[in-house]
Amino acid sequence: MASELRSVDEVRDGLGAVGYLAGESTALVSFLAGKLGKPVLVEGPAGVGKTELAKALARTTERKLIRLQCYEGLDEAKALYEWNYRKQLLRIQTEATDAGWQKVQEDIFGEEFLLSRPLLRAIEATEPVVLLIDEIDKADQEFEAMLLEVLSDFQISIPELGVVEAQSRPLVLLTSNNSRELTEALKRRCLYLWLDYPEVERELEIVRLHAPELPEAVARRLVEVVHMVRGLDLKKPPSIAESIDWARALILLGAEEIDEAVLNRTMSIIVKHRTDLDVVAERAGVKLRQGLLAG
Ligand SMILES: Nc1ncnc2c1ncn2[C@@H]1O[C@H](COP(=O)(O)OP(=O)(O)OP(=O)(O)O)[C@@H](O)[C@H]1O
Ligand SMILES: [Mg+2]
Repeated sequence: MASELRSVDEVRDGLGAVGYLAGESTALVSFLAGKLGKPVLVEGPAGVGKTELAKALARTTERKLIRLQCYEGLDEAKALYEWNYRKQLLRIQTEATDAGWQKVQEDIFGEEFLLSRPLLRAIEATEPVVLLIDEIDKADQEFEAMLLEVLSDFQISIPELGVVEAQSRPLVLLTSNNSRELTEALKRRCLYLWLDYPEVERELEIVRLHAPELPEAVARRLVEVVHMVRGLDLKKPPSIAESIDWARALILLGAEEIDEAVLNRTMSIIVKHRTDLDVVAERAGVKLRQGLLAG
């Protein structure tokens, strides 16, 4: 049975219990979304836990997670529903040749021939679900317009069948990497959550949660180095996901400290552009040697 989100603290603790360490605003917005029945638009750089937040909310509320991954060219047939043409054709072929068109039509536009896609599945669900509309900025503007209807009325109209209304209101999260500006109309309907790279202390907690075998001192050093690297002018700064990967790699390599040699050997786990590698090798090495790390 799905559980409710009763207070901001409960949300934060609940997320923590399923392995997601939420900041104050994350817990607050998630709580309000449940209470107000409004979708949340989560924006922020890559790898800061936008997608994971939806998954964690599903785990902590014991709701089913329904995910719609957006991409260029995503259309209603893949997001809402489509008719199962092959099955319809088969039915038409097996109908007696003298069956009237009216009769055939009634037959082939029934629920049995409907293929539900994520948005319809979320609306149809009898138990409340978490609906993750991931990377909405990758879909086209027309798709966004269509989505508005679903998100404001929580219903989908199918010309041949009628209107499907939500049985229970889903908790909706939309994520965006900001690859394009979203429409004001969409933003107006959503609560907004900006996720950024966390403070050292919280990132340390996250890293320790995902890589508990790494000695605390090394983990702290790792997070400090990552923060310092983020401060360099890079094409793609390392994300939380990369901090976690680095921690796991250092465990495997049995690293007991992070010095210039270790950094040089494992740098490609946290920076993934040719030019960024050069920048880090040049700048971070010097800082490590001089012990100039903040922290
Ligand atoms: N607050 C957090 N608590 C625990 N783990 C976290 C947290 N934030 C991020 N992570 C971890 O970081 C990794 C990346 O998170 P996620 O995939 O959600 O990023 P994202 O923001 O959706 O990135 P992208 O924009 O590239 O899709 C995941 O493995 C996740 O477990
Ligand atoms: Mg994501």
